Amino acid sequence: MSSVDIPREQWATRVGFIFAAVGSAVGLGNIWRFPFQVGQEGGAAFLLIYLLFILLIGFPAMLVEFVVGRRTERNPVGALKQIGPGAWQYVGWIFVVTGFVILSYYSVVAGWTIRYTILGLQDGYLADAGEAEAQFVELASGLDAIFLHAVFMIAVIAIVAIGIQRGIELAVKVMVPAIIIITVGLAIYAATLEGAGDAYGYYLSPEWGTIAAEWQSILPAAAGQAFFTLSLGMGVMITYASYLGEDRNLAEDGAIIIGFDTAIAFITGLIVFPILFTAGVDPADPGAGAIFVSLAAAFGDLTLGWLIGAVFFATVAIAALSSAISLMEVVVSYAIDELGIDRVTATLGIGGAIFLLGIPSAYDLVLLDLFDLFADQILLVLGGLLLVILVSWSLANLAIDELQRGIGDLGPLGSAWIWAVRVPVVVVLLVALALGILDYYEFLTGPFAEWLGEQ
Ligand code: PFF
Repeated sequence: MSSVDIPREQWATRVGFIFAAVGSAVGLGNIWRFPFQVGQEGGAAFLLIYLLFILLIGFPAMLVEFVVGRRTERNPVGALKQIGPGAWQYVGWIFVVTGFVILSYYSVVAGWTIRYTILGLQDGYLADAGEAEAQFVELASGLDAIFLHAVFMIAVIAIVAIGIQRGIELAVKVMVPAIIIITVGLAIYAATLEGAGDAYGYYLSPEWGTIAAEWQSILPAAAGQAFFTLSLGMGVMITYASYLGEDRNLAEDGAIIIGFDTAIAFITGLIVFPILFTAGVDPADPGAGAIFVSLAAAFGDLTLGWLIGAVFFATVAIAALSSAISLMEVVVSYAIDELGIDRVTATLGIGGAIFLLGIPSAYDLVLLDLFDLFADQILLVLGGLLLVILVSWSLANLAIDELQRGIGDLGPLGSAWIWAVRVPVVVVLLVALALGILDYYEFLTGPFAEWLGEQ
C-alpha cells in the first residue's frame, strides 16, 4: 500500500497537542541539567541569559519546526523531501538517526530512575556520598541496567503502538498534569526544610562576576540548553506539528509550551537545592551524579527521605517517558509515512532495534558518553542548523505564509521572525556545533582512548 492511501492520524484536541509537546520538552534536561547549570554558572544572572536565549533562539526555532510539520503533514524525512530542493531533502534523515540514537541511551538513564524509585521504597538511600557513588556505579551498568532499559522501552513501545489519540495523547493527558502537580508539591515541601533560605540564596542571587569572567563558556551552554530542553533539532516538533489539523495559532501554542517547560525547570531548582542544603551536600556536583549520587545521598539523610526520594525519582521517570515517546514517534512516523509499514509492526521493530543499540550504553558508562556526546552535541545541532538555514534563507515566504495560518497577517513581525532565525539562531548553532565537534574529539582521544586501552 502506498503511503498516500493511509489516512493520517491527528490530535483530537488542542490541549492534547500542547501536552504532548510539553511532555516531550520536560525531561531529564529540565531536572538535572537545568538547576545545576543555574547554580554553577552564576545563579540568577545565568537564569536571565537563559531566558533571553529561550525567547531569542528557542522560540523562533520552535516555530520553524512547527511550520514545517504543519505545512507538509509528514514525518521529518517526508517533510524535507517535500520542501527541500536538491540535497536538502536528506536533512530529514539526520533527525530520524538522531532520534534513534538519543532514545537508545536516554532509555538507559530512564531505567536508572526506575531503579532509584524502587531503591527508595525497598532499602532507602545511602547517606554517605562515597557509598552512594559506589552504589550508583554498580547499578548504572550491567544486567540490572539492561533489564530496566528493556522495561522502559516496553512502556514506550506500548504507548506509541496504540497511536496518536488513544496512545500518546491519552498518556500525556495523565502524565503531564501529574508531573506539574507533584513538582509543585515537592517544591512546597522543600520550602519547609531548614536549608531552604540558604538554598534560595545560592540558586537565585545573581553573580554578575561569574558571567563577566566566564561568558565564553556560559553563552554556548545556555544556548545549547535552550535547544535541548525544548526538544529542538530532533524532529520532534516537526512530527508533532504534522498531526495538527486545523489552523491553530502556532505562536501562541509555542509560547504556552515554552512557558511550561521553563516553569518546570525553574521549580525543580526550588526542590533540589533546599534538599541538598538541608542535608549538607555540596551542590557543585553536576552531571549524572547530581541526582543519582548527591541528591540520593541527601534523601538518605532526611526524615522520610526514602519516600520523598521515591516520589521524586518516579516523577523523573514519568517525565523521561513522556519525552521518550516523542522521540520514538519521530522514527515510527517515518516508517509509517515513507515505508508504508503499519504502526504496530513499525513500533515493535524500531523499539526492538533501539533496545539493542542501547545495550552498550547500559553495559558501560563510557559507551553511554560516546553515544550521548555524538548525538547531543553534533547530530542534534547539525540537524537543527541545516533546517533553520534552509527554512529561513530559501523558504522564508512559505514559512511566513504557514505561520500566518491561524494568526492572520503578521506584518513586520513575520520578517522579524525570519531575521531572528537567519542570523542569531544560525550563529549560535554554528558556534555550538564547532564547540561540540571539539569536545567530541577531546573525548575520543581522551577518556574513550583510555577506555579502549583498558579493554
Ligand atoms: N526536552 C528533552 C529534555 O529536556 O530532556 C529532550 C529530550 C531528550 C527529548 C530525550 C526526548 C528524549 F527522548
